[in-house]
Order: sequence, then C-alpha cells, then structure tokens
Amino acid sequence: MSAAPDAKPLKGLFIRTHGCQMNVYDSERIRDVLKPLGYAPVDAPEGADLVVINTCHIREKATEKVYSELGKLKRMKEASGGRMTIAVTGCVAQAEGAEIIRRQPAVDLVLGPQAYHKLPEMIARASRAVGDRLETEFDTVEKFDALPKTRDPDGPTAFVSVQEGCDKFCTFCVVPYTRGAEISRNVDDVVAEVRDLAGKGVREITLLGQNVNAFHGPAPRLEGGEDWTLGQLVRHLARIGGIERIRYTTSHPRDMDDDLIAAHGDTPAMMPFLHLPVQSGSDRILKAMNRGHTADQYRDIIARVRAARADIAIASDFIVGFPGETDADFEATMQLVRDIDYAIAYSFKYSARPGTPAAEMALHVPEDVKDRRLQALQALLRDQQTAFNRAQIGRTIPVLVTGKGRNEGQMHGRSPYLQAVHFDGTEAQLNQLVDLRIVDASLNSLTGELVRVCEPAQ
Ligand code: 5AD
Ligand code: SF4
Repeated sequence: MSAAPDAKPLKGLFIRTHGCQMNVYDSERIRDVLKPLGYAPVDAPEGADLVVINTCHIREKATEKVYSELGKLKRMKEASGGRMTIAVTGCVAQAEGAEIIRRQPAVDLVLGPQAYHKLPEMIARASRAVGDRLETEFDTVEKFDALPKTRDPDGPTAFVSVQEGCDKFCTFCVVPYTRGAEISRNVDDVVAEVRDLAGKGVREITLLGQNVNAFHGPAPRLEGGEDWTLGQLVRHLARIGGIERIRYTTSHPRDMDDDLIAAHGDTPAMMPFLHLPVQSGSDRILKAMNRGHTADQYRDIIARVRAARADIAIASDFIVGFPGETDADFEATMQLVRDIDYAIAYSFKYSARPGTPAAEMALHVPEDVKDRRLQALQALLRDQQTAFNRAQIGRTIPVLVTGKGRNEGQMHGRSPYLQAVHFDGTEAQLNQLVDLRIVDASLNSLTGELVRVCEPAQ
C-alpha cells in the first residue's frame, strides 16, 4: 500500500497496561489519540519513540511494579541516545504526580486518567522542553469530548466506557481519589460509539465503569426527561444491529436495581455473567469497609438475579485481612462463598493504601494470617470455578471466536459465561459465533467441538 503524500512518518508507540479493564480501555483510547500524530503500535519498548506506562494504584504491589519498570526504561532511553519519550498515565500518575518525576527523572510526562486526551499537546511541549510535564486535572466530560469519535476495534469484542469515578468511598480503596467523582457519559455519545464499533464488526461490547451500575447518563434529546439507568441503556444498545452480546463491569450491590436485574432475564443480548464484588461475608467488616449493605442483602440480590436468569455465572472480588478481621469474620466470608457458589472470583490480601481511612485503622492483620486466609479462600474458589467449568461438559453453547489458539488448527473464543474455550477450527471462523459442544473443562478453560457456525443476527 502506498502512503498518502501528506502521511507523516510512523513513530513507534509501546503501551504497557496494568490493572483493570478501564485501563485497557484507556490504553486503546490513548492509541486512538496518538494515531493522527503518526504513532503506530509496536510490540516491545526497545526502539519505541514513545513508551506509555498506564498504571494501577489499587494495591501496593501494583504501584511498586511501575517503579521497577521505569528503571528498565531509563536504561533503554539511554541506549536510544535519549530519543525515547516516557509517559506515565493512569492511577499512579494521578496519586503520586510529581513524585514520579522526582523518583525517576527519565520520565518525560505524567498524566492522570482524566487527562490523557492532552497527550499530543504535552508531547509537543516536551519535545521543545517547555511547560509542564504533569497533568492531573479532573475533567472527565472534557476528556470524552476531546477523544476521537471513531475507534479502531481489535476484533469482535470491545470495551465501552460509560461511567467513571466513584463516590462510594469504601474505606480500603483509592479509586475515589485517583479516578475522581462519579460521572456518566450521555446516552447519545455512548450510542454513537457503539454504532461505530458495530459498523466495524464488533459483536460483543462490555460497558465499563468503576461503578457501572450507578450509570445515570443524560437521556437522548428526543426522549427528554430523566437520566437513564444502566438497565435502560442496555435495552437500548441491544437494539443496535450487529450487537449480539452485552456485558457490564464492575458493579456495586447497592446499585443493583430491579430493572437491571429484570434485563438479565428479558434481554437476550445480555450475557449471563455478573461480576458483583462483595469483598467480605462478615457484616462487621462490611460496615468497617463502608460497603453500605449486609451479607444477607447481598445473598438476596443474587437470589433475585438467579430468579431472573437461572444459569447466570456469578463473579466477585474479596479482600482478606482487612483491619480487625477475626477468624469468625473470615469464616463468614467462607460461608458466603459456599452459599453463593461462584463461577470465578478474584481475591486479594488487604493492602494499606496511603490516604484511605482503613490505613489508619487499628488491628492490622499479620501477614502470615492474611496468607493463610487467602490460601484457604482461593482453594475453595478454585474448586467452585473448576466445578462451574466442568458443568458445561456435554452442553452445546454459543462461542464468539476471538483468535487463533496456541496450537496449529486451533481457535479460541468466549462462552456466554466468559469462559475461554478452545476448539479445532479455521481462521474463517474468526469473529463468528459458533455452537460448540463442550467435551472437556479445567480450572481456566473449556475444550469444545464445532457443531455449527451460527448465522449473524439481523
Ligand atoms: N487492598 C486489597 N485489595 C483491594 N482492592 C481494592 N482496594 C484494595 C486494597 N486496598 C480490591 C477489591 C476491588 C478490586 C478491584 O481490588 O477487591 O474490588
Ligand atoms: Fe473502590 Fe468501593 Fe468505589 Fe469500588 S465502590 S471503586 S471498591 S470505593
């Protein structure tokens, strides 16, 4: 292909993404923002003109990773004769700001998660060595307005951010400080983004937000009136031609309203998967965490969701060793896990985060006790996950084919329950929905046999 006469020479862009799906989405949008400047993605940082480290601040370990990575990049930058520009984005950038440049002077730019639309302007300034190297303003609306209106999807699935920030202030969590106050995008903008993606072959969207079910976006002009809830948004997006699967993450029990629960039962595009973090099964600890609900209220929500959609896969997050957590509190968490029976769950040792109320609480749990509890919880969760996966054996389920498998002649995709599935297939099936009969399953994946390639929905 010959380059357009005015095309700028390509510059190598390497983005490393840490943390949650919101960061994955932000990294994609950073790529979109930089494309008009002639930046094209490369597979490794060596030799790249611009390296972006999109960071996570949720636990101490995630933060420390950033500094060790920056040390390696400094050496690469020296080897490039200083040609490489290093930018730090995301939540560590927001939380630690100028401290990053102080600890690692090789860093050229630091931008918070609501400021990365300003990257082009900051890169230009950095190249002339003028102006600020730090941008951590909170202006989510301005960010979305400034981002390119079209996207370059990477296959048949895409994330779509609909809500950012959090006002819940769980006492252990940095998100309300790093991502700012809760804000929803307006429905028209979300619809335009999803239409654009559907037109480019996307069939499965995952609506993203730190508290996605707190969504309350301004309604389309013609429909006027009240802000829409997530349930209303999902029903609306389900009508866009080409969109066959809708997911959302991450949600909060307090925002699980009746309409959203009903949508799980009556909207065929809504996938049978719900990630609803509970963190603990002890009412005492839930209160100290400022979660705003009890363990029984959570059980009741799950029961209602299952009444709407019997086969729904339930996922969660847990923290063990929150300050003051006793053996009895931990046992209440284990009991909740036994009661719910999870398809998958993520569990972490409590990590004290500077500036959060829990970091100041008394009775921090010793590391060895946290370790023991985490191992016990993870063993139980692994058993449940394996059992959930094995329960698919013998069933025929629709799988969206997302890529080639590791072995020759193998493809892989996603089940409705977000399980990874491998099968013997061909590249012609890429981006298609196929029915697979599940013949084997383990902790992390399923094996299927092709039954048929499904017709695209009209
Ligand atoms: N320590 C340990 N885990 C945490 N999480 C959030 N903050 C902390 C912390 N300080 C976990 C929660 C949350 C997930 C994204 O990370 O389980 O749901
Ligand atoms: Fe953090 Fe709680 Fe907000 Fe989730 S709801 S982002 S855990 S403060």
